[in-house]
Formats: sequence, C-alpha cells, structure tokens
Amino acid sequence: MRIGVYICHCGLNIAHTINVESLRDKVSELNDVAVVKNIQFMCSDSGQDSIVQDITDLDLNHILVAACSPHLHEQTFKRVLEKAGLNPFMLEMVNIREQCSWVHMDNPQMATQKAFDLIRMGIARLKLLDPLQLKKVPVRKDVMVIGGGVAGIEAALTLANSGHHVIMVEKEPTIGGKMALLNEVFPTNDCSICVLAPKMTDVNQHPNIDLITLAEVTEVSGPVGNFNVTVTRKPRYVDEDKCKGCVDECGRVCPVEVPNRFDSGLGKTKAINMPIPQAVPQVVYIDNEYCVGCGLCKLACPADAINYHQKEEKLEFTVGAIILSTGYSHFDASRKPEYGYGIYPDVITNMELERLLNAAGPTKGRVLSPSTLTVPEKVSFIQCVGSRDEQVGNPYCSRVCCMSSMKNAQLLKERYPDVDITIHYIDVRASGEMYEEYYIRSQEMGINFVRGKVGEILKDSDGKLKLRYEDTLSSELFEEPTDLVVLATGMENVKDADKISRVLNLTRRTDRFFSIAHPKMRPVDSHVKGIYIAGCASGPKEIQVSIAQGSGAAAKAMQLLSKGELEMDPLSAHVNPDKCIGCGICVDVCKFNKITMIDRKAVVDELSCMGCGACSASCPADAIWMRNSTDAQIMAQIHAATEVKSESPLIVAFLCNWCSYTCADLAGTSRIQYPTNIRVIRVMCAGRVDPSFVLEALEHGADGVLVAGCRLGECHYIFANYNAKQRMEALKEVLADVGIDPGRLSVEWISASEGERFANSIEGFVDYLKKIGPIGSELKEAEQ
Ligand code: FES
Repeated sequence: MRIGVYICHCGLNIAHTINVESLRDKVSELNDVAVVKNIQFMCSDSGQDSIVQDITDLDLNHILVAACSPHLHEQTFKRVLEKAGLNPFMLEMVNIREQCSWVHMDNPQMATQKAFDLIRMGIARLKLLDPLQLKKVPVRKDVMVIGGGVAGIEAALTLANSGHHVIMVEKEPTIGGKMALLNEVFPTNDCSICVLAPKMTDVNQHPNIDLITLAEVTEVSGPVGNFNVTVTRKPRYVDEDKCKGCVDECGRVCPVEVPNRFDSGLGKTKAINMPIPQAVPQVVYIDNEYCVGCGLCKLACPADAINYHQKEEKLEFTVGAIILSTGYSHFDASRKPEYGYGIYPDVITNMELERLLNAAGPTKGRVLSPSTLTVPEKVSFIQCVGSRDEQVGNPYCSRVCCMSSMKNAQLLKERYPDVDITIHYIDVRASGEMYEEYYIRSQEMGINFVRGKVGEILKDSDGKLKLRYEDTLSSELFEEPTDLVVLATGMENVKDADKISRVLNLTRRTDRFFSIAHPKMRPVDSHVKGIYIAGCASGPKEIQVSIAQGSGAAAKAMQLLSKGELEMDPLSAHVNPDKCIGCGICVDVCKFNKITMIDRKAVVDELSCMGCGACSASCPADAIWMRNSTDAQIMAQIHAATEVKSESPLIVAFLCNWCSYTCADLAGTSRIQYPTNIRVIRVMCAGRVDPSFVLEALEHGADGVLVAGCRLGECHYIFANYNAKQRMEALKEVLADVGIDPGRLSVEWISASEGERFANSIEGFVDYLKKIGPIGSELKEAEQ
C-alpha cells in the first residue's frame, strides 16, 4: 500500500493556526505513507497536478487530502484521481479547516494535535477502502407526468420538445387544471385561458406526448430509471377517436341537468357534456354519477361516438422518471361556519367569483348578487379563509389570495365603477415582481383595505348581510352591511394526497403538501430518486413559479435520463444472503421501501437505495453492509481516534453528512470557537450509527460520544433519525444498567444553520464530561 498525503495551507486559513510543518513531519512517520506534501492551495491547478504527477511517479494507490470540508472539494479530488487513472473511491478527505483551524484559532497547539489525529483516523479508513465501480444500468427515457395543470403542461412540453416520450396522466376529463378556470391572471390581467389554451392544444397534438385523461396512477414499482407504473383509466363512455366535439347534438337531447362542477356548481350542464369550451381533448364525456342511460345521446350522435360498453382499464408503462404536478384543492369554506358559506347565497368564494366574471362562465361575465339578481352596491372580500388559521389546521399562508382578491376587485371596479369594494386583510402580501405596484393601483382605483379579520357574517332583520369586525389599525369595532361577500379561500393539498403518497412512496410535510428533498436547495426533487415535484403539489405558489418548477422538474428528469443509463450509486446497502436471517427488520426500517424479502432473504434495490445506512445499523445479524461506509471502516476510525488519548475528555462524534456535519462546517465559516476535544466521524445519516460504534468508542477510552443528526422530521432519509433516536435511547438505558453514566452519550438534533448551537453543545458536553471525570473507573466497574 502506498499512501500519498497532501496537506493544504489554504493560504493562511489553515497554516495560520495549524503548524503544517510539524504536522507533515509527524504524518510522514505513519505506516504505509509514501509521501507527504504541504501545498499552498490544494484545489488550485498546480495543487491538483502535483497529485496526478505523484500518483504516476510514485505509484501511489491511496490518497488523503487534508484541507477544507469534503462538502466543498470531495468531487474535485475524486476527479483528480480519475485523471491519474486511480479509482476515485480511493480518496479520503480530512477536514482540517472548517472543523479544525477555524474553530480552534485560540489553541494552535491542540489544533495541530487534533489535525494529526484526524489524519490518522482518515488513514485508518483509507486503508480499508475498496476501489468501487460505478455500475451502469440502462434506463428508459420516457417520463410520466401526473397532473395536467399548468406545471405539468410546462414539464411535458419541455420534455417532449427535447425528444423525450411523455405520458401525461390527468384525472379530470380535460387538462388545464385550475388555471383553465380562472378569468384573468395577475399581475398582467391577461385572459387566463387565452394564454393557457395554446399550450393545452400543443400537449394534445405533440407527437411525443400521450395524453390519458380520466385516469390515475394506482401502482408504482421498480427502481429509478425503470419505474413500472400502472395507470387506471375510468370509462368516458365516448370514443375519443370518433367524437367531433359538437356537444350541441348530444347535450341538446340529454334530459338530465346537473350542476356544472367546472363552474364551481354555479351553472348547469348536462350529464353528457364538454367540461369547458376549451377542453383538451375536445371530447365530451358522460358523467356516470348522473347519466340515466336513456340512450338519447347515442341516437343523436352523428359520429356514432357514444360507447356505453367502455370499462375501467389498467394500462402498464415503464418510465425512467416521474413528475408529480397534481396541484391543489380549495379550502372548503363551510368549515368556517361563522361566514355562513352554503347558508347565505350572497357569500361566495373567490373561485366562484372567477367563474361569474368569466365570459364563458354561468352568467356570461355578469356579477349579480345571487339572492337579488342585481348588481351589488357593496362587495366585501375576506382574506385568509382557511389560511394562516391554526383552528382549521392550516397555519401557512396560501401566497396568492391577496393578489387574487385585488385582481378580482380591480375587474369588478372596471366593470361596475360605482361598486363600493373593501378588502379585509390580516397582512397584505404583495411581494412578487410588479405586485407592489398592483397593490398601489388597487388603492388608486378606490378599493378600500381594512386591516383585521372579519369575526362573523350575520343577516339583519331586513335580510341584508352584515359583517362584524374590528379594524385593528383604529381598534374600532364595526357592524357593516354589505351585498356580496367573497371569501378568499386558501389552498390545501389535493383530496387524494394520501393515496398518491402511498403509491409513489412520497413523504408529506406537516401542512400535508408533498415534501421536497430540501426546501431551498432542491425545490423540485422529492425524497425518491427519479420522482420530481412541480407546482402546488409541494405547497401554494403562483402560476409563474409553477411554470418555472415545471421546466425545472423537466430539466432534472432530462439530466437523469440523458445518457440512457444510470450509474448505480456505490454508496448503497448490500446484503450478504449467507448472514441474513430473514427477520425483516430492515424492511420496516427502510422508509424508501427499497428492501424486499425474497425467499426469506432481504434484497436491496441497490439502484434506488439512498445509502442512509439505517438498515445496516438495525440488522441484528450484521448481514447488511454499506459499500463506502463499512462497519470495519468506521471501527478503524474509532480505534484511531482513541488509541492515542491526546486530550481529556476525548469525544468521538458521529455527524450526519447533511445537517449536523454542515452545521459543524458553519461554525467554522463563522469562526465560532469551541473546545478541541472532539474527533468527528462523518456518516451519511444518524440512522447509520450502530450502537456497537458507541460502545466500541467508550470501551476504547472515549470519555463521551456525540451522535448528531438533522432535526427530527427533517432527516434527509425521511424518518431514519427517528430510528437512531430509538436506538440511542435504548442504549442509554443499557449504559445506565452497566454503571456507565448515560450522559456520556449525547444526542443532538440540529439544523444546518445552527453553528452556534453546535459549538455550545460541544462546550456543554466537554464541561459535563470534565465534571464526571474520565471513563476509566466506570469501565472497570462495568467489566466486573
Ligand atoms: Fe441527518 Fe438523517 S440525514 S439525520
């Protein structure tokens, strides 16, 4: 074995605190180290070139780079190894900047000692690394888009225009989603369907898109790149190829009149109908809930398109990626009984007003108070109905309602200049591009804004509606008559979100929308590889943001599938079938459902495995190992950390790669100082920490062990840190039973932004360990 060690000065960022010369001398004495070099900037071209040169000239086969955080340059140095013809997995990066020189500036001597210990730990792991191979698996380039609203349409067209075959699945009889029902859109006041309809038509006519309406995805299996998807299509009872869309003939003879749900139930339609005039596909459908089967439409249809024999069908597809763009549903205003929705006809929702304002709506664009059928003299908008409301379980803001009410108020004012309009708000949220100007324009048009939530709506003795509210700016109470109340209802996830998350194995946030992998950095990735989320499925957002996300999700899918093959992540779990006892614990632990039992043996879907390691840590038979984070590698790091007890108390810390390691890095970039006593071992997730790691560290002389992961509920591997929590709690009891102070095991759930808290927790832990003294005597007692 010939190891090359490269110590970066990072200008003075490292060299100012750490004595890099003495560090180099000490490291050069370690076994198997063929060369140690100090370099000003390792990441510079000359720094990288010197590694490449040494690999060739000195026949190096293992490389350790002691420099900044691996989060910054691990990929850079892997590429360097590749360039030199060495397997990129034969690299170990040791963080002596963010987690050493920058956090121990006041103690250069111990910082240098710690850097040496970290390098020894790195070398111990490095010696056990295997040259992993990226396994390549062919993938399908087809993509399924679930949901044909504006986000799904954008995603489908972006993909189709780039040559991907797209299957769009829409549960309604037409695509277009909520946007197709809006009258105009803010802040430009464009006609909504005018800007959307051409894209809807493009979807239907695009040679690379197959559109399946009245359908939903009912089963998904298989790995990323080759998802097997079952789509269940309901019967339309109309032959799509034959129907000419001349709804006049069949609709005219249909004897059954039904509320038109595409007009929010305000207008009437027939049991056979065209959902909206611009429906795509331009095909009528029979609403089975109301059809009486009289057969008149079949007789009237000149194209012989009516087909009562259609049955529900199951369609099977294999696709490389899936984009979920299922949109949202409106909060049911009757859940706020104080507003009398559903009781007082003149209390309507913003969506109902959209339909009334719409020239293609039930009143052909006339807005009349439903009870008097006259133009209202006074209209009152009530904001945040079902948003920012803990009582109904929706504490979040729905983002678009303020602008949407202003838009409808402006349109009313333009159409009926004498109408008196007031918007009752909690806070006006108008922070997008051109939104503030839009708000000012609304005020200039004479629309009144009153701050304070309306308490209730009553009817006075002459049958007129009356609002009871407090103006929170003047602290005055009012009871004010009005003619028409418009409730700005908030957004909620779609009604069948439970089913969707079950079928696609997606997680949901506490607001019940689908979770994305990271709220800032990965806005369209779900937690499942190859499944992306666009639009309001991941929370309320405006149309333009949904469109941007549709493009973003499409770009992600293209990036994933562009090569026609996927590189299998060598960080995945791997089962040794000879050791597996078939207990099935790993199947329960894997929240991604990537482990199945076949013939009483666990089998990991290695292509889709996320590599958290929770299964490995929970396996009672030690039958599951992580390819790039084996138990042996971690044990070697523990032994290296403890074999020379360079300071007391000594803490071995297991930090998850995502939040807690990042937060330790942040402490460094913020130059927050904390004691040098901690020796960090990076694991992908706190769920990877096997209790045996903790015991091994304590048995070998660590005075304390820290296990730190993401905040509970924010683990990057769904709920794997809950497994860790359970295990560590049980372990504390075991420690107490054998006479070891359970406080020697510290467990922290911490976000990536809490650098200061991380530093404080180390400080507090060191103080505690100093107070209880070294572990030695407790260990002796435990052994007896
Ligand atoms: Fe941080 Fe799971 S990834 S605890």
